[in-house]
Amino acid sequence: MDTPQAGILAEIPPLSRYLTFSLQETDELQHCLQEMAKLVDGENLVLGLGQSVLDSLGSTIPGMRVMAASSTCGIEIPSTPQALWCWLRGNDRGEIYHQSRLISSLLSPAFSLSDCIDSFAFDQNRDLSGYEDGTENPQGENALNAAIVQHQGSGMNGSSFVAVQKWQHNFPLWDNMNSQQQDDSIGRHVADNEEFDEVPESAHVKRTAQESYQPEAFILRRFMPWADGMNAGLIFVAFGHSFDAFEAILNRMTGKEDGITDALFGFTRPLNGSYFWCPPLNNGELDLSAIGL
Ligand code: HEM
Repeated sequence: MDTPQAGILAEIPPLSRYLTFSLQETDELQHCLQEMAKLVDGENLVLGLGQSVLDSLGSTIPGMRVMAASSTCGIEIPSTPQALWCWLRGNDRGEIYHQSRLISSLLSPAFSLSDCIDSFAFDQNRDLSGYEDGTENPQGENALNAAIVQHQGSGMNGSSFVAVQKWQHNFPLWDNMNSQQQDDSIGRHVADNEEFDEVPESAHVKRTAQESYQPEAFILRRFMPWADGMNAGLIFVAFGHSFDAFEAILNRMTGKEDGITDALFGFTRPLNGSYFWCPPLNNGELDLSAIGL
């Protein structure tokens, strides 16, 4: 029976590394993917495939597409499609490093590494701004329903669609806000994580309230902070049974619905953005039957 890659539904680990690969040549593509299928356990290593891999194999995954770039109300949302995404999850940087080396050599020559980002859990589940993340994430059965494809047949059931964006925070701008302005940007008090009355329309939790969408737009967010030298931000990772909920939320955040932009953009911006399809597991191996392997 097909099951989801377990890391999707698990809590975030202490450390993560995100590897993205571009497609170099297609002769060895099938072989490389078959070798990866044996390595991916879904728990310490979650894998997603981009549209270019599906196109090269002549495969179609219903619902899969490339993230759309947009520019609305002065907010740029970049789209930077990639061929393959690995999310390494663990608690030991050395192990994660050696696993990355193994993955890179296994995927060569079909793929070449285009980006490698390390991230970490901060003060349990906080963004580097200090606000707690994931409070309104669906739990248990609801998480499964939000994030995992069901009732679409073997090879598709248990799979998931993931949106990945690297956001960079502008801490000088953030530091210039007083605590009221910061709370108003998010829509929660940093001290106790409580939502408060009189939340401005632009507050992030007001823009993104999942139940306020038609249909309701539940996604499973599994994001973690990153820091590199003096630059830092958040790797936004959202799993869904389709990309529809993510796109509905992002549209409202960027002001496409009513011209009101999310106050988050006052201190942080996405630098890139890609979509991937995460195949299910079957008998401890990735099930690639939906793409003909
Ligand atoms: C740097 C970028 C972001 C930061 C720092 C951030 C931070 C937060 C925080 C602190 C919360 C409140 C606690 C919680 O429920 O998790 C929240 C809620 C939420 N965020 Fe974000 N977020 C970011 C980007 C995004 C993006 C790009 C989306 C989707 C397109 C999104 C969707 C949501 C949703 C759906 C909620 C829960 C809303 C609810 O139902 O109450 N966030 N976020």
